[in-house]
Order: sequence, then C-alpha cells, then structure tokens
Amino acid sequence: MTHRILILGGTTEARQLAGKLARREDFSVTLSLAGRTESPIAQGVPVRVGGFGGAEGLAAYLREEHIHLLIDATHPNAARISANAAEAARQAGAPILALRRPGWEPVAGDRWTLVDNVAEAARALGAAPRRVFLAIGRQEAGTFEAAPQHRYLIRSVDPVEPKLAVPDALYLLARGPFPEAEERALLEKYGIDAVVSKNSGGDATYGKIAAARALGIEVIMVRRPALPDVPSAQTVDALAAMVDHFFDPVAERGV
Ligand SMILES: NC(=O)c1ccc[n+]([C@@H]2O[C@H](COP(=O)([O-])OP(=O)(O)OC[C@H]3O[C@@H](n4cnc5c(N)ncnc54)[C@H](OP(=O)(O)O)[C@@H]3O)[C@@H](O)[C@H]2O)c1
Repeated sequence: MTHRILILGGTTEARQLAGKLARREDFSVTLSLAGRTESPIAQGVPVRVGGFGGAEGLAAYLREEHIHLLIDATHPNAARISANAAEAARQAGAPILALRRPGWEPVAGDRWTLVDNVAEAARALGAAPRRVFLAIGRQEAGTFEAAPQHRYLIRSVDPVEPKLAVPDALYLLARGPFPEAEERALLEKYGIDAVVSKNSGGDATYGKIAAARALGIEVIMVRRPALPDVPSAQTVDALAAMVDHFFDPVAERGV
C-alpha cells in the first residue's frame, strides 16, 4: 500500500525531510508551500502552492487527497498554519506529527532583549537613532516604519515591496545559510548596533547571533509564539524515524 503524506513546508528542514521520506517507494510525499517566495528552490518532491482556506480548507484537502499522515514542518513563527494543521487533522481524523526545532537559548556574553512580537521589537529599539540589522524576513519589515529614526539594513530572500517609508534603509537580497564569519563582517561593515531576529532555532541563521555576541551588539529577540501540542520531533532524522515507526510498528519491534 502507498502511504500518502502531506508535509507543510517552507523551511530547509521540510525540504530535507521530504527528500528523505521520498526515498521510500511505499511513500507518496507532497510538499505544501504558502507561495510567499517568488522562486523557491527546487524541493525534490511534488509541490503544491498556496493557502488551503483555513483549517476547514486543509481538512477538506486531507479528506479529498486521502492523506494518511500530515506533517507540520513549517517555521516556528508560522503560528497560524500550525494551529490550522492541528485543527484540520482533528477534523479530518488524520494523524499529525510536527517538526519542532528547538529555539536558541542565550549564553554568556549574549545581550538579548526579549519581545513578544515584531511591533514590540520596533519599540524596543528606543527613541535614539540606531543602526539596525533587520533579519526577520520581508513580511513584517513594514512594521519598522513606526520607528523611522533608525537606519536600517534589511535582508530578505525576495525584495521588500513597497520599500519602507523611512529615510534611511538599505536592502540586501540573500538566502541562508549565513556563516558567523560573514555575518560578523556584515555587522562591522555597516556599523550595526542592534540586530532584530526571530528565535528561529537551528544552525542556518544562528551566525548573526554568534557574531552579535562576539561584537557585544544587542539582539532584539522575538520570542516564539505558542504552538499546538502535537507529537513532535526536534530533528529531521528523529521525525523520519517517527514516520517509519508510524507506518511499520511491527518492523520497529524487530518482529
Ligand atoms: N514566519 C516566519 O518567520 C517564516 C520564516 C521562514 C519561513 N516561513 C515559511 O513561510 C510560510 C508562511 O509563513 P507565515 O508566517 O506567513 O505563516 P502563517 O502566518 O502561520 O500562515 C498564514 C497563512 O498562510 C498559509 N500557509 C502558511 N504556510 C503554508 C504552507 N506551508 N502551505 C500552504 N499554506 C500555508 C495558510 O493559509 P490558509 O489559511 O489559506 O491555508 C495560513 O493560514 C510557511 O511555509 C513558513 O514555514 C515563515
């Protein structure tokens, strides 16, 4: 029997997981992307693009496509789709697993200011003009128009459109991973004195956090939103093992 698996993606890990699961001949894997990135990199498995229309829409998709297992491998800050996934799985009676990479923890030397959302991050920069590295993606960059006194270096995968209505902003287009040495050079080149980041976890975007620590630069760190409590693993390998066990519980016991 072919086991039909839908992976909600938009992350490096989702792509890696899809590639790993697709190696099994009895798995049929589809990866779902929101469609935010104009030219997403090749995912290596069949891809569907665009929203489902809330939890109900996703539940209908799960039923119509006869999905046997839903995997939420979205970014930890993508709280709405994760909530929808848990609710849709419940409605459709489909099992769900989640890939939840652990968040970063501050270590000695870090100068983190913790905030709950991006609007709070803009306020936390304070009244005095600063040179800010915005590394939160393009979707919420506009929030910083509320703090036009700062100079911004804004990095994103796709162009920020429209540009921010602030007097001083510079735009960089780049796709991670971003090694620490390069991040350090960037922070130094632009004289950055505050980094705004989401607590994404993982290695690919940790370089700026390590670089900020080395240079004694403050990081305004946006905390993770609350996510639904579903069975989860922290790494691609651990989740792939959970999937194998889910479909082959007997083999797992060595019978
Ligand atoms: N938020 C971040 O910082 C961040 C960073 C890196 C990558 N991403 C990726 O970017 C995408 C969008 O993130 P977001 O924060 O905008 O999400 P979100 O706020 O949680 O979701 C907003 C809506 O976008 C649609 N959606 C989100 N992820 C989807 C997916 N994988 N497949 C199909 N539809 C999806 C859903 O629309 P419907 O309700 O119509 O189904 C959802 O209700 C996700 O794939 C996420 O993994 C996000």
